[in-house]
Amino acid sequence: METKEIKKIFAAAEDFLPINGTDFIELYVGNAKQAAHYYKTAFGFQSLAHSGLETGNQNYDSYVLVQDKIRLVLTSPLKAGTPVGKHIDQHGDGVKAIALWVDDATYSYQETVKRGAKSYLKPETRKDKHGEVVVAAIHTYGETIHYFIERKNYQGVFLPGYERWETSYQPAPTGLKYVDHMVGNVGWGEMNQWVDFYARVMGFAQLISFDDKDISTDYTALMSKVMSNGNGRIKFPINEPAEGKKKSQIEEYLDFYGGPGVQHIAVATDNIIETVTAMQSRGVEFLNVPSSYYDTVLDRVGSIDEDLEPLKQLGILIDRDDEGYLLQIFTKPVESRPTVFFEIIQRKGAQSFGKGNFKALFEAIEREQELRGTL
Ligand SMILES: [Fe+2]
Repeated sequence: METKEIKKIFAAAEDFLPINGTDFIELYVGNAKQAAHYYKTAFGFQSLAHSGLETGNQNYDSYVLVQDKIRLVLTSPLKAGTPVGKHIDQHGDGVKAIALWVDDATYSYQETVKRGAKSYLKPETRKDKHGEVVVAAIHTYGETIHYFIERKNYQGVFLPGYERWETSYQPAPTGLKYVDHMVGNVGWGEMNQWVDFYARVMGFAQLISFDDKDISTDYTALMSKVMSNGNGRIKFPINEPAEGKKKSQIEEYLDFYGGPGVQHIAVATDNIIETVTAMQSRGVEFLNVPSSYYDTVLDRVGSIDEDLEPLKQLGILIDRDDEGYLLQIFTKPVESRPTVFFEIIQRKGAQSFGKGNFKALFEAIEREQELRGTL
């Protein structure tokens, strides 16, 4: 990422860890076996690894899926009374862990705890015949955690305790490449506290140029700031609700999730038209924007490489900043509670997050809230 913006971030970020990228995202879900089928069939993830009764795990059933650089872990309890079961009862299906790939997990843990992080898991070495992995974890907002994963001495399929998931059912990928950013929703007045956490404890810098003001429609409002690590591979926007005429979508999330948590996972593609066409045909539901959005969008963003018609057909949004433009679209929530959703994003130079689309998008979300009677 050789842009001005990223260099500027790098200069501002203390970046003492450093972080190589997102290692995996773990979701606690009510039925991991069926969730895995959904993410394979609808999103084009591939079967990678499994831990469960067949591998000697008496407590949890975990399926690991992969698509290019993205790894999802889907975990369900195998019996009553587990911490995972309590988490699901409290939050519904949701993101428990954002795991960060580091060169030295022990150092990452010690440095962040020294700077004020709350410990979740002290560094431990897990071994099998394929080598060893060092794993540690700290708490972040709500009940969400960050693992530090050090895997330089490991050649296995995922982590010790997992075995390769052999299956003949392998739907084609949909072109999802890597995790672009992951957004956290935090409580009223808590945004700056978590911005400070990522700056002070994690050595991140704030992307000050974008999404830094109140964002609102007639009814819904939120505040958002974006934190990035030094090399720009980890970007965490943090949202808090703001007062509007009716209930903010962030407030709705907090009510249904039972507190702060991950709101959306943004994944990058090199061809959003192909990716979204495939996902829609495979049953993924996306938010609709009014077709009137496309009447004026090119006046706002200028000329783009793509034809407008397929973007309009699919409901893909367009935004521009100083460095280029981006194409993006948001799924509806992917579980029963209106909480976690996905964003598909294709960057064509732009390093921002689609601020120009927020109004059109929020109006679409409000229509959904209206249908749920939660506005
Ligand atoms: Fe986003």
